[in-house]
Amino acid sequence: MADDYEVDDYVRVRVTLRSGTNAWAYLERKDTAQHLDVRQWLRSLEVFAGPLPDFDPAAAPADPVELFLEWLREAVAAGVPDPHAMTLSTIGEDGGPDARVLILKNVDTDGWQFAVHSGSPKGRQLGGRPRAALTFYWPLQGRQVRLRGTDEPASAEQSAADLLARAPSARAEVLLGRQSEHLTDAEERDRAFRAALARIEAEPDLISPEWTLHTLVPSEIEFWQADKGRLHNRLRYERRDRHSPWVRHMLWP
Ligand SMILES: Cc1cc2nc3c(=O)[nH]c(=O)nc-3n(C[C@H](O)[C@H](O)[C@H](O)COP(=O)(O)O)c2cc1C
Repeated sequence: MADDYEVDDYVRVRVTLRSGTNAWAYLERKDTAQHLDVRQWLRSLEVFAGPLPDFDPAAAPADPVELFLEWLREAVAAGVPDPHAMTLSTIGEDGGPDARVLILKNVDTDGWQFAVHSGSPKGRQLGGRPRAALTFYWPLQGRQVRLRGTDEPASAEQSAADLLARAPSARAEVLLGRQSEHLTDAEERDRAFRAALARIEAEPDLISPEWTLHTLVPSEIEFWQADKGRLHNRLRYERRDRHSPWVRHMLWP
């Protein structure tokens, strides 16, 4: 049994011990969920804990793919978890923004690749309005990369090759094909998944034509390097279209 009230930064809690005697316990306010000041708590959390690398935009390569791969390699080497995870932002069918995390599949001179089920919300959104943004964040270095551009679906052959290289369980999930629909019965899902997995195992070359590789062909790529003194270094590569040369601009923090 306990009741409580606040004393400055502490909450005094009356507890009844097993022996039956009453006692007072003092808990730091931040330890009690019901008294947590979320704003204060968030403000107390550190950001850009560092040590942060230097970034000299003037020395950046002319090709942003080169700089992206350098930053990605450094994130991997430093042990950033899921360094190839990125936020894909799309335009919803209602005209509003939508966003979710996906795994990066490849980067080449065409652009940044990912794969989606064409029947999923993001697949439908990309089909309807082929413009998108990608955002990477590598907290150990205080680095963010932002891309905006047009979305291009790959050929059926390329998409099939990507699908066939995936683990059977991942392919079974694609075969289910009901991503983001309301789920009313978890057992139905499990049964359907087991059946899909059995089918993949029986037919190893089975293709789900809805699985589609996409390439974000960027028109803007920003490299953002945090600075502890808040003079963050920002470099944006811009181009008119995919055949135009990249032009570099530093941005105010
Ligand atoms: C780290 C991480 C990686 C993910 N990778 C993928 C992925 O590669 N493909 C995918 O369809 N969903 C992936 N998801 C789930 C998506 O974020 C999302 O929930 C799902 O694709 C449904 O999105 P939609 O309703 O906008 O279509 C991932 C989620 C996380 C947190």
